[in-house]
This record gives sequence, structure tokens and C-alpha cells, in this order.
Amino acid sequence: MLGVIVASTRPGRVGGVIGEWLEKQAVGHGGFEVRMLDLQQLDLPFHDESAHPMTGTYAHPHTRNWSELADGCDAFVLVMPEYNYSYSAPLKNALDFLKREWKYKPVGFCSYGGASGGIRAVEAIKPQLVAHGMYAIIPSVSLQLARDLDENRQVRSTEALQGAATGMLDELAKLAPVLRQLRV
Ligand SMILES: Cc1cc2nc3c(=O)[nH]c(=O)nc-3n(C[C@H](O)[C@H](O)[C@H](O)COP(=O)(O)O)c2cc1C
Repeated sequence: MLGVIVASTRPGRVGGVIGEWLEKQAVGHGGFEVRMLDLQQLDLPFHDESAHPMTGTYAHPHTRNWSELADGCDAFVLVMPEYNYSYSAPLKNALDFLKREWKYKPVGFCSYGGASGGIRAVEAIKPQLVAHGMYAIIPSVSLQLARDLDENRQVRSTEALQGAATGMLDELAKLAPVLRQLRV
């Protein structure tokens, strides 16, 4: 199962459209079942658990639900905007809630932003992924919004973007079964 985490929760966001495009690429790829993990829909509060996530003791139904959804995934794609040269606060919060659920799982990036294509956000999140025992892969998708969205704010699904998505999904599909063996 591939979890596609849509990391923007703003009203009027473009993250939903980009998440749907990535979902389509992933379903077409066929290497995984695909589970959309849209943080806007999940509507997690700020981290509100008293026990350290390492204990896996979750007091709240929203945490148990989030844990179950993440636990069922073998790999992730982060559909993530760049905010102020970094990644979004809702994404930080959602990752902070859990621990074991992330470990020994590969993660790819579908980032977006201005001229940067969101890559500063990708670089900024890598230390947190290391802290979770996740494995960030090299092939990635990066959208420059002015270039890669059309006048209706839909993704211009060019060969280049589709090729990037395929490369990322191929790599995740290679790593997922290998890393699965390390999870007990
Ligand atoms: C709070 C905020 C900070 C932003 N900072 C950056 C930035 O540092 N670099 C960038 O390329 N775009 C930046 N942008 C522009 C976003 O890339 C653009 O608004 C994008 O649509 C945000 O994703 P979203 O609509 O899914 O929330 C910022 C947008 C917001 C709302």
C-alpha cells in the first residue's frame, strides 16, 4: 500500500489538485494499491498526546485512526508545498504524532512551489525523516506552479512530469518489499 500524504490544509490550496494528479500516476503505475492521506480531511489537532509516540500508546481516537492508516502503508509520497523555504506545519505535526508507523519505510517527494519547485522544503524535511527511520529516495517530482499548472489550475501532465513520477514510483516499489523484511 502506498500512502500519498497531501501536506497542505489551506482553503483554496493547490495541494488537492496535485495530490489527485499524483494519485492518478500511482494508480496507473500499478506497483501499489494507493491510499490517499489528505491532512485537510484528516483534520488532526496540534499534537495532543501525553505519552511519547515511541510508546505507541495513543489516548485519542484521531491518533489511533492516523496510526492505523499510516501503519497499513509500505511506502509514502509526500505531496508537499514549500512554505517560507521549508515544509508545512501540518506535515510536521502529522509526522510528530507517530513513530513506529514510519520506520523502515521508503518515502518519495512530489514537491511544489515557485521557481524552487519546493525543493528547499524537501531538503528541510530530511532530518525529520531520518529521525523516524524513513528512507528518502532520490527520484522525485518537482512542480513549478507557474510552469506546471494550466490556466484552470490543473497539472499540465507533461511527459517530463509523468516520467519523473514513474521513476519515483519505480524506486519506491523496489525498496518497499526490501525494507518490509526489516520490520518485525
Ligand atoms: C505561508 C506561505 C509561504 C510560502 N512560501 C513559499 C516559499 O518559501 N517558496 C515558494 O516557492 N513558494 C512559497 N509559497 C507559495 C506556495 O508555493 C503556493 O502558494 C502554493 O500554492 C502553496 O501550496 P498550497 O496551495 O497547496 O497550500 C508560500 C505560500 C504560503 C501560503
